[in-house]
Amino acid sequence: MSGIESLSEQALADIDAAPSAEALESLRVALLGKSGSITAQLKSLGALPADQRKTAGEAINRVRDAVGAALSARRAALEDAELDARLAGESIDVTLPGRDPGRGGIHPVSRTLQRMADIFGRLGYDLADGPEIEDDWHNFEALNFPPHHPARAMHDTFYFPPDGRGIARLLRTHTSGVQVRYMRDALAGGNGLPLRMIALGKVYRSDSDQTHSPMFHQCEGLLVDEHSTFADLKGTLAEFVRAFFERDFEMRFRPSYFPFVEPGAEVDIAWQRPDGSTRWLEVLGCGMVHPNVLRAVGIDPERYTGFAFGMGVERLAMLRYGVDDLRAFFDNDLRFLKQFA
Ligand code: PHE
Repeated sequence: MSGIESLSEQALADIDAAPSAEALESLRVALLGKSGSITAQLKSLGALPADQRKTAGEAINRVRDAVGAALSARRAALEDAELDARLAGESIDVTLPGRDPGRGGIHPVSRTLQRMADIFGRLGYDLADGPEIEDDWHNFEALNFPPHHPARAMHDTFYFPPDGRGIARLLRTHTSGVQVRYMRDALAGGNGLPLRMIALGKVYRSDSDQTHSPMFHQCEGLLVDEHSTFADLKGTLAEFVRAFFERDFEMRFRPSYFPFVEPGAEVDIAWQRPDGSTRWLEVLGCGMVHPNVLRAVGIDPERYTGFAFGMGVERLAMLRYGVDDLRAFFDNDLRFLKQFA
């Protein structure tokens, strides 16, 4: 009997000290398994004299139950500890601030285009567009640039090789071709006159330096009506400049030549330098639509007059945002673009 008591003490101590589920399982097998030490005790009962068998049997069963209970308790304790450790390792701090998804912004050129569309939209101008791959007729000829006219040389044009039908295609050098398309479509569609449109888009010239890029954007405007005058043109442009820059500028109309307008002018605004001095800056070209242009699209120039204007979008964006190198708009340097986010 003293054997079973010390076996029990040792077994309970070992169970308490078992460091892992595997160690605990080995202990269970060694104690209660088929050839375990407690099982062996039970098996040896038969060899005892009959009067001792009952007491000894009860004692061994008590030890077996106690060892069984201790194994379960230790197993539960080990599982708890393992879960605690795992939870501690996987913990997240829900009070930490979230990660910034890195929001983008609208490109300053797109922003300027939108602004122009807004301002002219409020003045009742219809938004129009035309193809960037244009033909000679829309880009030049219908705009009163006869073939070989020297004014063509002012546009450093990118030409495509002539196609099978001999049609000369080019990358449009200005958005003025949209004037022609819009007037023809308006007349053909029966909408007729008067009309007011602006066209925004990319134009191309073989030219590249600090103030010229081979691709840039223009905003074209056209109005045709029975009694439109140069005074209407001036008023419209003054209104636009005021709305665009959100301040008043002194403006100057300087006579200039474009084949598709007569008279033609370039508009300068009096730009205030930080040191207080003023500088005249050219911002756009404009004029009264040339009778030949109206005739080319089938409008009677004796009855109708119109005005047109065209401006460089990047140039106006540079002035508005204080950017001094046009190329900054196309480098896609995020440090520059982020300032407009
Ligand atoms: N198309 C001209 C240019 O690109 C600008 C312009 C437009 C001038 C309309 C007069 C009228 O320089």
